[in-house]
Amino acid sequence: MTIQQLINQKVQAALAAAGVPDAPAVVQPSSKVGFGDYQANGVMGAAKALKMNPRELAQKVVDALDLEGIAEKVEIAGPGFINIHLAPEFLARRSEAALKDARLGVTLPAKQTVVIDYSSPNLAKEMHVGHLRSTIIGDSIARVLSFMGHDVIRQNHVGDWGTQFGMLTAYLVETQQTGKAGMELGDLETFYRNAKIRFDESEDFANRAREYVVRLQGGDELVLELWRQFVEVSLSHCQAVYDKLGVMLTRDDVMGESAYNDDLATVVNELTEMGIVTDSEGAKVVFLPEFADQDGNPAAYIVQKKDGGFLYSTTDLGAVRYRVRKLNADRIIYVVDARQSLHFQQMFTTCRKAGFAPDNVVLEHIAFGTMMGEDNKPFKTRSGGTVKLIELLNESEERALNLVGEKNPDLAVEAKQQIAHAVGIGAVKYADLSKSRTSDYIFNWENMLSFEGNTAPYLQYAYTRVQSVFRKAENYDASAAIVISEPAEKQLAVALAQFEDVLVTVADGCYPHHLSQYLYSLAQLFSRFYEACPILKAEGEVRASRLQLAALTAKTLKTGMDLLGIEVLDAM
Ligand code: ARG
Repeated sequence: MTIQQLINQKVQAALAAAGVPDAPAVVQPSSKVGFGDYQANGVMGAAKALKMNPRELAQKVVDALDLEGIAEKVEIAGPGFINIHLAPEFLARRSEAALKDARLGVTLPAKQTVVIDYSSPNLAKEMHVGHLRSTIIGDSIARVLSFMGHDVIRQNHVGDWGTQFGMLTAYLVETQQTGKAGMELGDLETFYRNAKIRFDESEDFANRAREYVVRLQGGDELVLELWRQFVEVSLSHCQAVYDKLGVMLTRDDVMGESAYNDDLATVVNELTEMGIVTDSEGAKVVFLPEFADQDGNPAAYIVQKKDGGFLYSTTDLGAVRYRVRKLNADRIIYVVDARQSLHFQQMFTTCRKAGFAPDNVVLEHIAFGTMMGEDNKPFKTRSGGTVKLIELLNESEERALNLVGEKNPDLAVEAKQQIAHAVGIGAVKYADLSKSRTSDYIFNWENMLSFEGNTAPYLQYAYTRVQSVFRKAENYDASAAIVISEPAEKQLAVALAQFEDVLVTVADGCYPHHLSQYLYSLAQLFSRFYEACPILKAEGEVRASRLQLAALTAKTLKTGMDLLGIEVLDAM
């Protein structure tokens, strides 16, 4: 159980004993050092509702509050806040237990099967910066949920189907005939652009492209084979990006739009049988009064076009059906741009009506904002084009290599490159993961690569500083007892004990920036501890205990960074 849950439970019991069992305890970490480590703020609300004197009620609650072995002091402040000061022994035992445990003492909640749909680029083109956020936010959420013991199923819902693939396969045939296919496929942006030029300039080519779409959808083996070749190349471009980013996606996680092609007619049939589909000017739509406009007209969620073709929406309905029925999902998470919010809300509502997702299956759109350039407009190249993700990542590594070279000119080339990779990729990921996902953010090389402030390089460096203590310590007793006496020791221990609370928060709301924020303040608290409490110069039990706190800090930083998908190094 997390500390917050534990204290909440105790205060809840005290509220019941004080005669207000239904009042929420509202326990949270204290906002200021002087207010103890945790605060219970529920008394004021309860007193108000019952027209009682809040300080009197607070006193009753405190009298009934049993925090034996957990808190050393409990006091009432202001109009009825209850401030709780944790006991040093409690923190010490908790830290010792976390040190001994591979999972840092984090308890496993009830296990769920969680499907996470993330990255999911369209394969017609190469991955660009627009795919970065879904890929790294999704990956971090997947890591956190796996760490919490859930069965995580990654689903890369790539866009590998639709009319564009007629044009691309038709162009593939042409380039194969002229022997240029291999070269042109090296850069899918150019490949796409050239195919489009052919489509616009030649009536013949355009007709062939249209014919290929029909043949592809009809299951024509020849066109399917071409399509497969193209998809293979495109997926290998994606995999190169995933490998460089260090995200966990592999080919086994690819479950693209095409995979649902055979289910789409069934999806529409099932909706029709349930009587929730209406013919509207030849198209098939689900009317959703939940999304009515100002005049009360329901929104029309189209599931089949007039010409019989299916849409993105139909495919997503098919995917939910599969994820619930075949993958047995308890929770399905879509890490997709906020601009698709309406699509997901309508899709979820349709799934509930159709029974594709029963009420006990949680459907969540984990939306995120846009990555902006310095001009506060969506991030583009100087000439206004889209930035290829692989190029952005290469540039970050190069910039990091220059920085490392300046800081550490004498390092061997390989060591420099290894650091540059960790720092360059870490910086890009952390810049994203350290901000609340729902807001837009400005991409800025100097800020993200800075060794000061809330950045990956700062945290990576902080980690190496902790590690360097162990390099200098000649003897370290990994089973030594922890004794907490100095304020800086206590503050560090409180923060270390809050790791589990933070993970629970991230797992619930899917906001990785809570974890970033936590790691940043942990690193700062360690610095303060390091300055206030000499480690190696201390002696005996004090030295051994401080080394233990340093060891747990290192372990927590490393685990936390790993859950963000960011590498740490022992030295840099
Ligand atoms: N391929 C889509 C795009 O690039 C994202 C797909 C997200 N996942 C989903 N199940 N709709 O916009």
